[in-house]
Amino acid sequence: MTQVLTQIRKFGVVPVVTIEDPEDASKLADALLEGGLPCMEVAFRTAAAGEALRRIALCQPDLLLGAGTVLTVDQASEALDAGARFIFSPGFDAEIVAYCLKQNVPVFPGVCTTTDIQAALKSGLKVLKLFPVEPLGGTRYLKAVASPFPGIEFIPTGGVDEGNLSCYLSVPIVVACGGSWIAPAESIAAKNFDGIRDRAVATVKVVQKVRKGSTHE
Ligand code: 3PG
Repeated sequence: MTQVLTQIRKFGVVPVVTIEDPEDASKLADALLEGGLPCMEVAFRTAAAGEALRRIALCQPDLLLGAGTVLTVDQASEALDAGARFIFSPGFDAEIVAYCLKQNVPVFPGVCTTTDIQAALKSGLKVLKLFPVEPLGGTRYLKAVASPFPGIEFIPTGGVDEGNLSCYLSVPIVVACGGSWIAPAESIAAKNFDGIRDRAVATVKVVQKVRKGSTHE
């Protein structure tokens, strides 16, 4: 569990991908590996998600693979069977969290209020996805909602992009950011894997720049 979190923290960004055609999965994984960002959250928003996970787990074992938009325990179980090593959900679901923790798998439920955060804390979690962070109010909201909860860290997601990434990563309680801007559905559909690789390269540069200039790690 700790190892996955350490890697997510090191990468600073978790690319969220929605795959319609399982044939695209491997090329997409290669683009992220070539771009120096070997991490991917496959969203359970299409029927292809499970198969995409299976193919990547088999062909690109060096990529840190997880599943997102997990709404049920069955989906969590399918994702883990397919090779996912972490689980994201848009909201907090105590059953999904309990299931993942029992399997010893890191789980990051989405929270957006202090009530959500308290429920997640009760489940024993210390790192939460803050979603959808930009419409909620960006870093200002993040700092305000987090202030009563010392020791809790966040993965802001929802509206994060290359333009605002450094603002989020500069907040000490931010482990990493999640987002679809590196590999948006349109780029995957257009099979523009070079574009995805180039955005991964640009993203890594932003992460490195922020980390170099900051006093925290
Ligand atoms: C998610 O499922 O985590 C989000 O939809 C990603 O948000 P974004 O598309 O605004 O990056």
